[in-house]
Amino acid sequence: MSLSRTLVKDALLAAGPADAILLQGWVRTRRDAKGFSFVELNDGSSLKGIQVIAPATLPNYAADLPRAATGAALEVRGRLVASQGAGQKWEVVAETLTVVGEADATYPLQKKGHSLEFLREIAHLRPRSNLFGAVFRIRSRLAYAVHQFFQERSFAYVHAPIITTSDCEGAGELFRVTTLDASHPPMTEAGDVDFRQDFFARKAYLTVSGQLEAEVFACALSNVYTFGPTFRAENSNTSRHAAEFWMIEPEMAFCDLEGNMALAEEFVKHLIRDVRQHCAGDLEFLGKFVDQGLLARLDFVLERPFQRCSYTEAIELLAKSGRTWEHPVAWGDNLQSEHERYLAEEHFKCPVTVYNYPRTLKPFYMRVNEDGRTVRAMDLLVPGIGEIIGGSQREERLEVLRENLAQHQLPEKEYWWYLDLRRYGTVPHAGFGLGFERMLMFVTGVANIRDVIPFARTPGSADF
Ligand code: 4AD
Ligand code: MG
Repeated sequence: MSLSRTLVKDALLAAGPADAILLQGWVRTRRDAKGFSFVELNDGSSLKGIQVIAPATLPNYAADLPRAATGAALEVRGRLVASQGAGQKWEVVAETLTVVGEADATYPLQKKGHSLEFLREIAHLRPRSNLFGAVFRIRSRLAYAVHQFFQERSFAYVHAPIITTSDCEGAGELFRVTTLDASHPPMTEAGDVDFRQDFFARKAYLTVSGQLEAEVFACALSNVYTFGPTFRAENSNTSRHAAEFWMIEPEMAFCDLEGNMALAEEFVKHLIRDVRQHCAGDLEFLGKFVDQGLLARLDFVLERPFQRCSYTEAIELLAKSGRTWEHPVAWGDNLQSEHERYLAEEHFKCPVTVYNYPRTLKPFYMRVNEDGRTVRAMDLLVPGIGEIIGGSQREERLEVLRENLAQHQLPEKEYWWYLDLRRYGTVPHAGFGLGFERMLMFVTGVANIRDVIPFARTPGSADF
């Protein structure tokens, strides 16, 4: 019977010794002593590698151990035995050792501290580092926890289209999708590019949000969520903006802003609790080497109710703060990052949901309040990052929605299907979008969005 592979993480947690074990992975370090070599083997299943002892009595020792350099791929068969050394319970004494793939001295991840900037330039190799291994294992677990949270609450997973013909957020940050020849596009008689001859016979884009499609499904299946890539051509070169990022968008029929805020809090807490439990080793590592305050902050967030504050109150708090702002702020202005961070980090010192924003600041689909000046919007702001969630109760009244479209200079005929939702069985409904990478930044303490996404797409950069 052939021996099947044991993952390093399972070998490290073994209940007892084993006579025959098969490990496959990459060499992190090798140290040669008299009579044997120590190899630290890592297969990415956990932060910790396992120590392999390769005795000099192996027939291929002289020929192959020098080739088992940092970065090389190995296959090891041997015995799992209690470790003599400190810091590990088990180690493997090799009975056969095969170099599957060599790595020579040019391998860039030789054992030493590398800057995040350097590691970004080798995004194809950085998952093999401790830091990025930890981040991407957490990313995977967090995605699982997203589905678990909604599936357990009977939300249906909806796949919103990636190619779309409507601009949900109305911010004009769309990437165009076209098969026209950019240097010789067909022209209309009026001298414009003739998009009727394009692939979709009209202008098409990459989606900025799956919300409008999620609303369609919420008005049929009641509670739904999307989880997919979204794209924004915003030219903001910040540590929190990417041109391609993942968003989770729950949408609930028969739900108002109150219910929406409650779900957002429950959701964020679920995600934190889940990675706290299932990624303990990786989080501990990040708490040591990336952000010393990380674990205490996550636990603090779990324990306390999130604060709530209306936009109008927020503006008053900012005015009373005695700060001089880089961007002075008055009622009607957008909150900038410095304002959001002041509220979450210094005033409330915990996550805070700001709601009821001025109508003029927000997209056409938000429900207008009785005052006529504000809409039922909500943004969840967290310490260290600022906004991680944006959402609202939606305008379910046909006439008010038509007015909003007009105010935003959006043509009704392009939103005919969206208006139909208000014509046939309209209901109060609400939802939000959580930026998956922003949430990852929050739970890992990693400060730059480029370092929580496998291959970052930002202005001027789409390598790999
Ligand atoms: O606030 P936003 O623009 O809201 C929407 O798109 C709504 N349609 C969501 C809804 O109600 N269903 O984006 C939602 C979240 C933000 O709070 C932020 O976390 C993230 O998406 N986000 C970005 N993340 C990374 N890079 C960017 N360029 C982002 N833009 C938004
Ligand atoms: Mg927003």
